[in-house]
Amino acid sequence: MRHPLVMGNWKLNGSRQLTADLISGLRTALAEVQGCKVVIAPPALYLAQAVAAVEGSDIGVGAQNIDVNLSGAFTGETSADMLKDTGVRYVILGHSERRTYHHETDEVVAEKFAIVKQQGLIPVLCIGETEAENEAGKTEEVCSRQIDAVINAQGVDALTGAVIAYEPVWAIGTGKSATPAQAQAVHKFIRDHIAKQSRDVAEQVIIQYGGSVNDKNAAELFGQPDIDGALVGGASLKADAFSVIVKAA
Ligand code: G3P
Repeated sequence: MRHPLVMGNWKLNGSRQLTADLISGLRTALAEVQGCKVVIAPPALYLAQAVAAVEGSDIGVGAQNIDVNLSGAFTGETSADMLKDTGVRYVILGHSERRTYHHETDEVVAEKFAIVKQQGLIPVLCIGETEAENEAGKTEEVCSRQIDAVINAQGVDALTGAVIAYEPVWAIGTGKSATPAQAQAVHKFIRDHIAKQSRDVAEQVIIQYGGSVNDKNAAELFGQPDIDGALVGGASLKADAFSVIVKAA
């Protein structure tokens, strides 16, 4: 049985104050919530503070990226084992902003995926097409290529226990979410694509939707059979809006 997972990707937003206030607000608002996993992903600098602040609650903490190396002369980077050591459990990989601004290829993302798994952490593999690719009818081609980079390198079983986040790039931060029907169609395609290799893996893998999810559109999105929660950007920075999204899941 898949459980819904709602994750807040804070991106490059936050401060010590916001981290403390947001987590305290979420702890209060979500105290009674059951059946939905909740994870926040603050910037790396605030991860240790977040891990301490969620202690004793069911809220998990995730990172937004890792380096492919575990240690050494790699100035400015953060490694998967450092995240594990800090109490982080999830790692977002291949977000379109990293693919675009940091030129992360499918192969690099797949390499990071393997490292996250080796460290016993949970990868959240972001995939999704740009507006131009969408208009050219290439959504399925792009999504399958991005997933196949992992499957071809590590086998379909690597997706066991992992999370996939379908984030159409044109819906990120634009206020223009995919409709529930549009998102469901792609989520079903993704699950069917994985099922060609393993029905069991396809049935258990969590597929989140991301892209302008808010407290108004979340319930309808989560009503779709293949949408298992959300990766939320902007709306995850407000405890009240994020709590409404979690409760909808
Ligand atoms: O990773 C979450 C994301 O890219 C969606 O951002 O602000 O559209 O919810 P947003």
